[in-house]
Amino acid sequence: MKIAVASDHRGVRVKEQILAQLAQLGHETLDYGPEGNDSVDYPDFAKAVAKDVSKGVIERGILICGTGLGMCVAANKFPGVRAVNCHDDFTAEMSRRHNNANVMCLSADLLGDRLLNRIVESWMAAEFEGGRHARRLEKIAEIEAECCHETSDE
Ligand code: RB5
Repeated sequence: MKIAVASDHRGVRVKEQILAQLAQLGHETLDYGPEGNDSVDYPDFAKAVAKDVSKGVIERGILICGTGLGMCVAANKFPGVRAVNCHDDFTAEMSRRHNNANVMCLSADLLGDRLLNRIVESWMAAEFEGGRHARRLEKIAEIEAECCHETSDE
């Protein structure tokens, strides 16, 4: 799977760790930065990844900042992006099975290395279940279309 990983300055070390894990799992990885530890603005990196997920250039993305929260808010502004903030392997798995999440946002400050490993493994392994969950996601897509339409009419 083609998957991009990006962070802000707080998540650079975790980004490197996740890129290595994904490569080990056999995925095609893309590093969307940043390169160093200088302070950056997380929306710039969320935008780069979420835009490419939205356009279908990449299948999935993982975003890391201090809490994972700002990245998640920013990524969900893009059509078709279903970004989630995961704290453990259960939320990671369920976000795939029920929400078909295509972007996962993680906290660099709160999660230990072993837990991060388990979260990434679970998220990459779990499949979307479809059925009633697909119907619910269609409703979310309708809300998105309605909001975009209302905004563009103004
Ligand atoms: C940066 O200080 C911090 O705000 C950022 O990493 C993230 O936690 C935002 O949600």
